[in-house]
Amino acid sequence: MSQCVTEAPETTSYSPYGLSFSPEELIDKIHFLQTEKKAVILAHNYQVPEVQDIADFTGDSLGLSMEATKTDAKIIVFCGVHFMAESAKILNPDKKVLLPHLGAGCSLADSITPESLDDWKRRYPGYTVVTYINSSAEVKAESDICCTSANAVAVVRSLKTDKVLFTPDRNLGRWVQAQVPDKDIAIYDGACPTHDVLRGANLLKTKQVFPDAVVIAHPECREDIVDIADEVCSTTGMMAAVARHPEARTFIVATENGIIHQLKKRFPDKEFVMADGCIGCRLHCPYMKVTGLEDVYLSLKEERYEIRVDAEVIQGARRALDRMMAVPRDN
Ligand code: 13P
Repeated sequence: MSQCVTEAPETTSYSPYGLSFSPEELIDKIHFLQTEKKAVILAHNYQVPEVQDIADFTGDSLGLSMEATKTDAKIIVFCGVHFMAESAKILNPDKKVLLPHLGAGCSLADSITPESLDDWKRRYPGYTVVTYINSSAEVKAESDICCTSANAVAVVRSLKTDKVLFTPDRNLGRWVQAQVPDKDIAIYDGACPTHDVLRGANLLKTKQVFPDAVVIAHPECREDIVDIADEVCSTTGMMAAVARHPEARTFIVATENGIIHQLKKRFPDKEFVMADGCIGCRLHCPYMKVTGLEDVYLSLKEERYEIRVDAEVIQGARRALDRMMAVPRDN
């Protein structure tokens, strides 16, 4: 339908660290170090396939946070982005939490700072602050409760108050407002550039090619996408969404392209198509893709890059995360 590629490109053998191990050798070395150091490897569903495949647990932000609270490993190697590793540290202050690549940031998390949150709080006095997990530890510490895409609706419904300040993702905030119309929800103006780039017209063009496909969208997508979608859910929620449609052969997926690897693994007989008709173009988070097997190996070998969070910040952020984890997931 366009000149876009439909399969992920082959990874090259170029090593930014000057290493000369084959992927098989790297995998062996990672497993050896992992056992020796009693480390657990957690990977987000958007990571590159080879990193998802060496992980002990692959999941969405909520699942990974939960897993971080259950592990008895001494070291957590977090293959995801910085705020995710930081959340694991907040939940495990006594464990060593490592982020294999320092470039693994998040534009959405960067769109809110303690100062900008204070500004919004001044504009909405008395509102309960619900902050998406895609935020820094400092911002979490100044929030009343956190949420992820898997429990945002349930978290807002669980609050006794009717006045909510939802930060920082405006698309997720709008989605929650549509599900909980009886509450007054003030919405911060951040967005994930990877999700926010997609337009309804792109999705409709793909739907014309696959008219019988079920459309699954992440709630970080814009309103015109979630309005068309048959299912709106977190990345792990997408697995359950596919299982809910046994009759469907093709699924159009509106989220970051890393999810296709997990979906294909779990449902090898189904066809998954990116919402913009292209595997590697728009729905691609550059931060999620910086971590490779060499980074995981060097992270374990040199115990780098250790996540540190100020004890006072941990206390506040932990309160917001604990309140969130007491609410069951809604997708
Ligand atoms: P999930 O929690 O649904 O995996 O989403 C994480 C995320 O950062 C989406 O951009």
